Amino acid sequence: MSHTPQTVRLLGIETSCDETSAAVVRGVQHPGGPAGEPSGALEQVTLESLVILSQDVHRLFGGVVPEIASRQHLTGIVPAVDTALREAGVSMADIDAVAVTHAPGLVGALLVGTSYAKGLALAHGKPVVPVHHMEGHLFATLLEHPEAAPPFTALLVSGGHTLLLDVPAWGSYRLLGQTRDDAVGEAFDKVAKLLGLPYPGGRPIEQLAATAESPPHGHPHWFARPMLRKRAVVTDADYYDCSFSGLKTAVLYAVRAAEKDGSLDAQRASIARGFQDAVIETLSEKVYRAAKAHRRGRIVLGGGVACNGALQQALRDRFAARGGTVFAPTPRLSTDNAAMIAAAGLYRFGRGEFAAPGMTATASLPIPGLS
Ligand code: KG4
Ligand code: ZN
Repeated sequence: MSHTPQTVRLLGIETSCDETSAAVVRGVQHPGGPAGEPSGALEQVTLESLVILSQDVHRLFGGVVPEIASRQHLTGIVPAVDTALREAGVSMADIDAVAVTHAPGLVGALLVGTSYAKGLALAHGKPVVPVHHMEGHLFATLLEHPEAAPPFTALLVSGGHTLLLDVPAWGSYRLLGQTRDDAVGEAFDKVAKLLGLPYPGGRPIEQLAATAESPPHGHPHWFARPMLRKRAVVTDADYYDCSFSGLKTAVLYAVRAAEKDGSLDAQRASIARGFQDAVIETLSEKVYRAAKAHRRGRIVLGGGVACNGALQQALRDRFAARGGTVFAPTPRLSTDNAAMIAAAGLYRFGRGEFAAPGMTATASLPIPGLS
């Protein structure tokens, strides 16, 4: 392997849930130490194109229907990849490898992406780089903020995951805390359903909550902050963990009470605000504890819930005094997309981590390098 930095260009493919996405990303790779070992060090990670086909059909069902998702990926994958290559002004000859999400997610949906990636790569004599979807979310911010590189504290909040990580280096992820029941995005979606709001519920709740006052302590819409105790110490089992199912039940009771006296329309915004306040206060405190304990000055957010402006603001306020910087991707890169898969793929490519011919899709798998 040469010791001069190389420009590498990857095609990324993401089909793990309900977005069919393809992207072209380029970066400068430093091929490592004196012995020639790959370091995976990355610079100038640049987005050349990004196509996201969102499957709106699932709104009709109030959640993702796996069989429909797979079929829509099948019809969307070819135009998504062709458009991403065309918009980047490149052909497969200019691509060094195909990065594809192989886990976790809906198996049928993932299989469309992995099968297509393998076929395309084989036809053009390129390697395939398998990428873990959640590692992709960790790399999304780097596409817009080159400073969002390790060491940092990471909060990954999506429809399926809630992970609080310490990241001393790319590829080294220490799991500090996670949810014990529902993922944060799932809680937003379920509460939205209770309130009669559309799916996915995160954005409608944020918009509605912004129209209401913050319910003060003692107000019927002030909900107990889950797993947040004043005198918590780091040795407590719930110091970093979260839980959202109790909060969801508290919201259910508030909705029932409002329905009983016919005041749900008048109280909907206040309930949404009370719910969002409780989620944000819990997450902010957990992230603050993690950053403080590991002396991290950078906080990186990822996943669909990272779009939430109130969450971003609360974290910025919380860290302002400590001088911590909070990085969050724009909504296009927060939710599922292939650019983040290609960016994480660049790192894995630099380490020579290519897929075996038998690579397949896996519904559930820990992030590589998780400890
Ligand atoms: O990362 P993502 O696009 O897909 C998964 O991998 O799950 O995350 C989707 C989740 C949904 O639960 C959605 O309601 C939530 O992200 N979400 C939000 C916001 N925008 C999307 N949650 C809170 N506030 C938002 N603005
Ligand atoms: Zn995701």
